[in-house]
Amino acid sequence: MESRLSWFLVYALMVGSIWVHSARFDELFQPSWASDHLEYEGETLKLKLDSSSGAGFASKNKYLFGKATMQIKLVEGDSAGTVTAFYMASDGPAHNEFDFEFLGNTTGEPYLVQTNVYVNGVGNREQRLNLWFDPTKDFHYYSLLWNHQQVVFMVDDTPVRVFSNKEKQGIPFPKDQAMGVYSSIWNADDWATQGGRVKTDWSHAPFISTYRGFEIDGCECSGKPEEMGRCQTGGQTDQERFWWEKPVMAELSVHQTHQLMWVRAKQLVYDYCTDTARFPTKPAECERR
Ligand SMILES: *[C@@H]1O[C@H](CO)[C@@H](O)[C@H](O)[C@H]1NC(C)=O
Repeated sequence: MESRLSWFLVYALMVGSIWVHSARFDELFQPSWASDHLEYEGETLKLKLDSSSGAGFASKNKYLFGKATMQIKLVEGDSAGTVTAFYMASDGPAHNEFDFEFLGNTTGEPYLVQTNVYVNGVGNREQRLNLWFDPTKDFHYYSLLWNHQQVVFMVDDTPVRVFSNKEKQGIPFPKDQAMGVYSSIWNADDWATQGGRVKTDWSHAPFISTYRGFEIDGCECSGKPEEMGRCQTGGQTDQERFWWEKPVMAELSVHQTHQLMWVRAKQLVYDYCTDTARFPTKPAECERR
């Protein structure tokens, strides 16, 4: 009897922890745009773009710090003119936002991944990179990690971008607005593919991005002051629950630093930090510490 009970407890704990890390789409998310262009089958979600509409979904909760991951397989074949995005954002005119935007291309030509960071309503921090695999052939993991010290963009656990907290140098860092987790697909053929020269070929519609493996492990926060406080200070007292605030998460490991250097050297094709035509004065956060 006793051992059966303890096995049940082990099982309950395992199920509990699995639930925290990975969940069904509808436990964490809901359609936010054109629900008739979303199709949920088993563990897989399809977002469709056709000439009548794109589609999108949003997390049911908002979070203040944590990590969001989803596995995405991007539009196969001709995806020119389409953009699929995965991002976190807060509400309001002075909002914060961390973006992955996957810019489609003609058949056989590579996707580009554009990332951006908005702080207090100001973006203009684009970077663009080529992936080291074909993102239309298989599912890959895309993650956003956010704690008090850094925002890390990851592709298959490889960091591709870090936005560090440089508040000591007077640079604002997103830390006091809860964010939702979002994804969408839409037509952006005025700019997305080869600078807007290649338009969406609607004879190839519907354009479908496919998702699975939804994970959000963050501090849920509706925006009430007591919840804000709990999410902001939780890491000081409970680093098991608030694992993203552990000291080791405050900066990249040596291995991750090397991975990021490799990405920047081999895969990065645009960085606003080095675009002197656009920014004659280097943006403050781009200066080395
Ligand atoms: C599309 O392919 C062209 C040619 O290979 C490449 O220059 C471009 O960066 C690719 N991506 C986009 C989004 O235009």
